[in-house]
Amino acid sequence: MEKVSVISHPVVDRYLTYLRDKNTNTAVFRRAMSNIGIILAYHALNDLKLDETEVETPIQTTIGYKPGQEVVVIPILRAGLSLVDGIINFMPEAKVGHVGVYRDEETHQPVNYYDNLPTGLDKALTLVVDPMLATGGSGSHALHFLKENGAKNIRFVCLIAAPEGIERLQSDHPDVPIITAAIDERLNENAYIVPGLGDAGDRYFGTV
Ligand code: PRP
Ligand code: URA
Repeated sequence: MEKVSVISHPVVDRYLTYLRDKNTNTAVFRRAMSNIGIILAYHALNDLKLDETEVETPIQTTIGYKPGQEVVVIPILRAGLSLVDGIINFMPEAKVGHVGVYRDEETHQPVNYYDNLPTGLDKALTLVVDPMLATGGSGSHALHFLKENGAKNIRFVCLIAAPEGIERLQSDHPDVPIITAAIDERLNENAYIVPGLGDAGDRYFGTV
């Protein structure tokens, strides 16, 4: 898998437009996030290992497939939850763990406040999910934490990445491919992505 994959698809561009639009209501915002989650999962899992299995059709026995490794989805709370619905729609067998990290509004530094991880991370394909990769502080922090807890084969799945965040993740975690729907211009003085979509968690949960 490429180090940074940008999903290029006309339908994704349409969904991204809904998400960026400050006048989009919570219901439309949620549906767009869920639909993009499906497409991001499709790309993030495109080299998932499979084992062969026999399947009996109504006509005869033939070869089928099942995952050859566990898939674990780990949203970075809160906003990471926005993509989980789409991802587990696409991959219903995936386990879901949680890591709670918020970005301190003054210092912009990540702070851990919750975790609940499934066992077997050492053998799993782990998708770490957060719609916004801004400074990369939260993502890098979560990746360090997951590696300390055994995760080895990790992908970082996001919606919008800033060049600064990509650089930070690639420098701290060169082994982790990044899958994103867009790379935006830059960060502003408050470390928000420009043009971005504003605060993803607030818009998804309706706490604006
Ligand atoms: C947002 C976002 C990322 C982080 C990105 O979370 O969901 O986790 O900021 O910024 P960074 O790359 O500069 O670390 P936030 O701290 O707003 O918390 P929330 O998900 O609870 O809204
Ligand atoms: N977190 C967000 O939700 N949006 C940004 O633009 C940056 C960090």
